[in-house]
Formats: sequence, C-alpha cells, structure tokens
Amino acid sequence: MSSPSPISASARQRRLEDGTHFIELSALPTRIRIGETDLEALTYDGTLPGPVITLNEGEAVRLAFHNALHAPTNLHLHGLQIPPQADDPHRVVAPGQTVTHAFELLPESAGTYWYHPHAHGRVTRQQWSGLAGALIVRGAPDRLPELAAASEHVLVLQDLSVEQGLPAPHAPMEWMSGKEGQHLLVNGQIHPVLEAATGLVRLRLINASVARYYHLAVPGHPLHLIGQDGSFLEAPQPVNTLLLSPGERADLLLQVPAAARLELHDLPYARSAHATPRAAATPLATLEVRGPQRPAHLPARLRPLRRLADADARPDRVVVFGASMDPPRFLVNGQSYDRHRIDLEVRQGSTEVWELRNPTRMDHPFHLHVFPFQVLTRNGVPEPFLAWRDVINLRAGETVRIALDFSRFSGDVMLHCHIAEHEDRGMMANVRVR
Ligand code: C2O
Ligand code: CU
Repeated sequence: MSSPSPISASARQRRLEDGTHFIELSALPTRIRIGETDLEALTYDGTLPGPVITLNEGEAVRLAFHNALHAPTNLHLHGLQIPPQADDPHRVVAPGQTVTHAFELLPESAGTYWYHPHAHGRVTRQQWSGLAGALIVRGAPDRLPELAAASEHVLVLQDLSVEQGLPAPHAPMEWMSGKEGQHLLVNGQIHPVLEAATGLVRLRLINASVARYYHLAVPGHPLHLIGQDGSFLEAPQPVNTLLLSPGERADLLLQVPAAARLELHDLPYARSAHATPRAAATPLATLEVRGPQRPAHLPARLRPLRRLADADARPDRVVVFGASMDPPRFLVNGQSYDRHRIDLEVRQGSTEVWELRNPTRMDHPFHLHVFPFQVLTRNGVPEPFLAWRDVINLRAGETVRIALDFSRFSGDVMLHCHIAEHEDRGMMANVRVR
C-alpha cells in the first residue's frame, strides 16, 4: 500500500519591486493529526513541519515573522551567515507582534538550513510542540547537470509523544537526558512513502528533534554525502551510515539506476552512558523509486572550499561543556547562561582555532550562530574532508578542534548545545565579535 508522498507546503512569498524576496511566516497553535492521534501542536503557518522556505544565494530577503502563539517566541534562522542583528535570537516577539528579518545572502551560501524558536527557557517546549521548518538556499552547484536531474526530497526529522491530546510533558529526568518521543516523524508523518524517479536521488536531511539523534542508513545501499550543514563538500564522499545530531543537516545522493523500494533506517546509537539505546533499527521512511532505467552518475566536483587552518594549528581558546547537580544546570566553561554576560570576545576579521571539550558522560552537539567553522581534528585525528559546519557533535569524553571564520560581521551571537533541554538549562554562552 502506498500513501501520497508528503510534500511540505512552500512558504507564502513574493518578489518585491526592487527584487527582494519577501516571505511571511506565522507561529500559531494548530490542531493536527499524527497517525490516529489528534494533537494540539504549535506550528508555522499551520503545517508540521513548517513550510519549506527556498531562497537563492546572493539574494536580498525580507522575512516578516508574526507571533500568533499565546506566549512569547522568536525566530532563529539556523546556520545562515547573516548579520547577527538580522537574526537576533535575543529579541523576544510578544504575542500578536510582527518583526522583520532583512538580510542579504552571501554569494556562496547554498546549503540546507532550518528555522526554529530561540527564546531562552522556552525553546524546548515550543520546539517539542512542533515548531521547526526547512530553509533551503539554492546556488551554482545545484545547477550541475547531475544534480539538476536528481529527484530531491527535503526530510525534516522530528519526534513527538502525545498525552491527552497535547505534546507529552517532560519528566524531571528528561530535563537531564533530553526528551525523545515515541513517534518518529518524517515531514510530519509516521513512516511515509517518498516517491522518486530512477537515477540520482537526493535527500536533504534535517534533524529538527529536541534531543534525539538519528543514525541513518539505507541497508544494502551506499550513501554519497555531498553537503553538511550550510555547505557543499568539494566532492561526493561515500558513507555507509550517517550520524545526525540535533541541529545538523546532511545532503545525500543515492544512485538508483533501476526501479527499487528502499528503506531509510535509524540504527541504534548510544548518545549517553545513562540511556540504553534501542536494540533494533527503526524504519523511518520508504523510498519508492520508479521509472525506466536511467544513468545515475555522481558529479565529480561540487564547489572548491578554502581551508582555514592546518590540522595541527594551536588552539586560541578552549570551550568546555559541563554539568552540575542540585539544582541540575548545564554549563559552558563552568558557568550557566546569563543573558547579560558576554562570555567570549573575538576580534572581527580574525580566524581562531578553538578546542571544544566534552568531559561529560553524554554527547552534546556544539552549535555557533552566524560564524561558520571547519573541523580540524577529533580526538587528535584529522578530519578527512573539508566542509563549513555550524553544528558538530561532541561525543562523551571527546575533544574536537575547529577553525572559525570571524571575517564577515560584528555583533553578539550565541554558542550552545543543540539539545534543547541543555540549552534552556544553561548550556549556552554569548560571543561578542567586534
Ligand atoms: Cu538551531 Cu541557537 O540554534
Ligand atoms: Cu547537551
């Protein structure tokens, strides 16, 4: 039995006279149906996930965001390299209020991004209730003949549990471990069937869950990674499985020259010494590939990238994730988040090397706003290929070195763990670039 392929609605948008791409988006309470269950969710524009916003590299954008929730919220454009003042997750949007984000996209910024709320202390609840959506920036590599001919799907991965028609509340322990839902949603559906034509199949995956990690595989089928976060790789990289921590994105190609029915699986992964992972793989979605035999050649090159620093570059500073008990708080460099404290100051125009340390017994995905970075080493082992990242998972006990590019903008941004519970409970710091 096959159900219709889930297509997320596209955003309300138009071109202004001066060529600006104008988009409107609202957050609102919405009654939705997950499988057999009715649920009072929070959505963007009435759909779960929110509509796909598709932009083009280099263009001018105005995004009008309206808050029709009963509580304050705001909109964070995750991963976009835009002036900190245009994103501004410090600003809180009151119920009934509209704010406009105006910015210009960089000329080489094609990639997979997303949007979600960022009002400190409220992120977990609002994101867990459904607030998240995909944001795609298209650019030159997307016009390569191989990619232009590929069947493409954007897959927003979320999870949810429902209790009495509402998103299930957190148990006290779940504020420590991060809450995982019993329903695994791909574009708001439980185990959807995605249709594609034979040839190259392109999947843009976004982990929009508050805390769940996805360990992805298509059994019996190699995956070719062509992008990570907001970046193309220089050339496709074959991988068998892919770990996607909260906030991370991956752009994958599958070569499927003849009709086939493939399964996207979530394999077991232990992200914490405190939690036992599921024993078996969970099917997430079926990929129904149809049509006559067609060639499925990979593009040889995607986009050249500039290397920021050598793998053995010495760190300029150290960022340590931590936790404390009674009351449970999560920490960056020994401190819990304070909105009014600047934790790190960086000179605009500089390239810095940071050593990220995770001495805790669980994984934490490190995220920095606006300013992209390249991974140099993980536990001393050089990263095999280049990419611009904005999230990097720190495994329990791991040390990761990254090189960061502070050349573009000045202003205040945040770094934090992308497990929403940890961020809301203090694992966040303010970075001032000037
Ligand atoms: Cu995706 Cu500061 O967040
Ligand atoms: Cu964390």
